[in-house]
Amino acid sequence: MTGSEIRQKFLDYFEKNGHKVVHSSPLLPANDPTLLFINAGMNQFKDVFLGNEKRDYARAVSSQKCIRAGGKHNDLDEVGKTARHHTFFEMLGNFSFGDYFKKEAIAYAWDFLVNELGLDTERLWFTVFEGDDVVGPDDEARELWIEVGAKPERILGFGKKDNFWQMGDTGPCGPCSEIHYYMGDDPANNLAKWVNGEGDTTVEIWNLVFMQYNRTQNDDGTFTLTPLPAPSVDTGMGLERITAVMQGVKSNYNTDLIKPLVDFAAKLA
Ligand code: GLY
Repeated sequence: MTGSEIRQKFLDYFEKNGHKVVHSSPLLPANDPTLLFINAGMNQFKDVFLGNEKRDYARAVSSQKCIRAGGKHNDLDEVGKTARHHTFFEMLGNFSFGDYFKKEAIAYAWDFLVNELGLDTERLWFTVFEGDDVVGPDDEARELWIEVGAKPERILGFGKKDNFWQMGDTGPCGPCSEIHYYMGDDPANNLAKWVNGEGDTTVEIWNLVFMQYNRTQNDDGTFTLTPLPAPSVDTGMGLERITAVMQGVKSNYNTDLIKPLVDFAAKLA
């Protein structure tokens, strides 16, 4: 499958499941002084999550162009060192604005990866939020992954750094659950230690954010989490990463999305 076909398959799958297909927004945020560049698919829906804006749909799907070269999500320092980070990339995402929540988000993600793309479940790992002093552990997400077919020993708990997502210092946020994929050749090396570990042996491919709070800054510089008007869903899957998985290559740079650009530049050089 080409990268373009994977993008289209994702949009078609969620459209078939009642989601409105929404275009990528421009890379420069239209009306958000908290961001220099668009860093996630959810940015254009920020006010919808906050309840400040109503749309005529409660489910959306998009392939959003993103730049992560500064601020809260800064991949710049990783570019050139890993096989999976870029400053510019495309993020596939499905969104629920107070419509479905964890159960459906997890069921859709499993169905798309396992039944639509045919990924080997033996290579999949899942992470859930293990809780902190403000938000409790996400045992519900763990149970839901088991319900859809994940092996309990493949579900790992992580803290705020990996499993609590926020677009910036302020704005919508919530615990998240990530799906990771083992890229190695040796089944004996398909180990828990690579999940959120060193290198590209196991890579995060998709993040499901269970949007529940708005994070605001107080006058004294501290932050407060206030529940959103309705629990919502925001997901993000790197198009280049899932394309590398589907094309059986170990680096995003060897996918048909990027390799022709590198070859072209090489020829000019
Ligand atoms: N908004 C979800 C993500 O960027 O991972």
